[in-house]
Amino acid sequence: MRIAVYPGSFDPLTKGHLDVIVRAAKQFDKLIVSVVRNPSKSPLFSVSERVDIIEHATKDIPNIEVSHFEGLLTSYVAGKGAQAIVKGLRAITDFEYEFQMALMNRQLNPDIETMFLMTHSKYAYLSSSMVKEVFKLGGDVSELVIPYVCKKLSQKVKVVNN
Ligand code: PNS
Repeated sequence: MRIAVYPGSFDPLTKGHLDVIVRAAKQFDKLIVSVVRNPSKSPLFSVSERVDIIEHATKDIPNIEVSHFEGLLTSYVAGKGAQAIVKGLRAITDFEYEFQMALMNRQLNPDIETMFLMTHSKYAYLSSSMVKEVFKLGGDVSELVIPYVCKKLSQKVKVVNN
């Protein structure tokens, strides 16, 4: 069984992430979308809220499992019996960091392959942090995230009106 892990902060899930999820799920028997618990970051959404959002967004895709992890990604991936890590690449600016991580992960476990999917061009500029900033400042993010995320953002974020 070909299993891949798509790890990330997903704070919150954007349509760019979703595009990668839908396309990666077609390439593997199972895709595990996994939210990182990073104690050194203070995310807007808790791990369980982020898992809930991803579960909601992917409920119609049968070969997706949504989970979370903490610690070394390669240990987590091996523990899940997966052979690959899937990452989305937006622009050239992502490349340096992703390249470093992919090489480090290969050093840690040469049996795990990192596979990159180029983002859809319409999401090349999109990031979770930008979505949060635009939403906070009262901008329209409805083209960038699913309606469920818009609802969760409005429950969580106080919009600043200048
Ligand atoms: O969505 P993000 O924040 O770009 O995701 C980053 C993530 C979760 C892929 C990265 O932080 C990660 O792999 N964290 C696990 C810690 C780890 O294994 N570090 C060593 C590999 S470089």
